[in-house]
Amino acid sequence: MKEAIFQKLEAAVVRELGCSAHDLEHVRRVYRLCLQLAVDFPAIDVDVLQAAALLHDIARVKEDKDPTGTIDHAALGATMGVALLRSFGFPEPQSAAVAHCIAAHRYRGGSVPQSLEAKVLFDADKLDVLGAVGLARSYIITGEYGGLLYSGAPLDEYIRDNLQGGAPTGRIKDISKHAANLEYELKFKLIPERLYTSRAKALAKERTAFMDQYFQRLRRELAGEL
Ligand SMILES: [Fe+2]
Ligand SMILES: [Fe+2]
Repeated sequence: MKEAIFQKLEAAVVRELGCSAHDLEHVRRVYRLCLQLAVDFPAIDVDVLQAAALLHDIARVKEDKDPTGTIDHAALGATMGVALLRSFGFPEPQSAAVAHCIAAHRYRGGSVPQSLEAKVLFDADKLDVLGAVGLARSYIITGEYGGLLYSGAPLDEYIRDNLQGGAPTGRIKDISKHAANLEYELKFKLIPERLYTSRAKALAKERTAFMDQYFQRLRRELAGEL
């Protein structure tokens, strides 16, 4: 019964996805990471977790294509997700639990994960921006938006000049000045501290150490040292 619902959910999600860094492969990696992290929590509701993993970025394209910049894919995704779950006959209290997971999965979102399932989804989704996969996704995004291969701009100057409000969390003003190494310094490097589960924290530390090495090497190659 649940398997049939999950298949329908995945089909519905595929119809909504578009951006290559948030495609079905991202959804499937997050789904697998969720199950990997869940082994430490025998009491976790795996059905809620699986449904939330499949649905978490269902509104991502709607946010990306929103000219007003007001759509939050986590909040809208929760609404869209719960409507789908109800239409497919997913049990009611669990549908609300899935909606909370989706609403709270965003790094810079206003909603904080409260349940174990929401914490595991948050952690799994963040792990997918780290390590070799994270680097590959970063360059896909950089290529799509016309960013730089590398930026040598001092971080404090970059924050002051190219982020709204001169704040590290501000929106990027000019994407052509942005680069994956800046994204790493501003956001990815801080992720291990933001995670909830110990297994995800350990994986995140290992993945960020690899990214650190990569960007150091990139800087040295570009400087003609290697
Ligand atoms: Fe997301
Ligand atoms: Fe995601």
